[in-house]
Amino acid sequence: MDWFSYLVAGILVYVAVAVFLFGTAFRIYQWFRVTRSSVKLGLFPRPKSTLGRGFKLVKDSFFYPQVREVDAAMWIFVLLLHLGGIGAFVGHLRLFNEFTLIANALGDEGMAQFAMWTGGTVGIVLMVSVTYLILRRFKSPYKDLAIPEDYLLLILVLVILLLGNHLRFFGDIHVAEYREYIHSLLAFSPAFPEAIAESSTKWVLVSHVLTANLLFIYFPFSKLIHAVGTFAGNLIRSEV
Ligand code: HEM
Repeated sequence: MDWFSYLVAGILVYVAVAVFLFGTAFRIYQWFRVTRSSVKLGLFPRPKSTLGRGFKLVKDSFFYPQVREVDAAMWIFVLLLHLGGIGAFVGHLRLFNEFTLIANALGDEGMAQFAMWTGGTVGIVLMVSVTYLILRRFKSPYKDLAIPEDYLLLILVLVILLLGNHLRFFGDIHVAEYREYIHSLLAFSPAFPEAIAESSTKWVLVSHVLTANLLFIYFPFSKLIHAVGTFAGNLIRSEV
């Protein structure tokens, strides 16, 4: 590994994971320390039973009906963004371990095709959703309410996606080689196999990992922390 790749796709990955985990834990600790409101903050309609509250929590947290009521077009792209995010997360798990059940059923070539179609679709859906959300912020009244962080965050995510899609559609590196790199990270001995070290795609991978690291470091201190806080917020919305 050249020194720059070692720093960015090695050392910085550990720093990013540590900041992400400790930062998120710290934010949750801070929330627990806030004095609880003595006023019930539930909004109508409020389910009476615990089961009803649980159901509403899941519905509000994963399907955001409150967003659909305000802006149906935005709701569709927000839903696609979150579904795509889950899809990308699941797809990246293949970099750790092969999904043997599917791979055995499809064979090597079939699995490569399957990954190309699913990964490719997820990457494009994410890119389109984020592009919509960026463009939306250039229009009033959203433009007037937006702060620089709103643009910065969306642009950072878009750059990660463009680089990821470049790896997916134009890269010349096989998943087994990516897996070798990820396993070296897990063994605390970061290294690129020859196929990555000698490919020009290496710089796209290093840039993808660099921007992803920045996102992980920023996560606990940005509005992205809503991915964790939304559950508590939505539970409070049904307090009786
Ligand atoms: C350090 C963390 C990350 C690593 C090591 C990583 C690595 C990779 C690799 C190796 C690929 C190419 C897969 C292939 O062609 O077989 C890829 C693709 C992709 N990545 Fe990442 N990635 C990371 C974080 C992220 C994040 C945070 C996002 C989203 C915000 C993301 C979004 C994508 C997308 C959309 C693709 C293309 C679709 C796909 O192949 O699944 N990645 N990534």
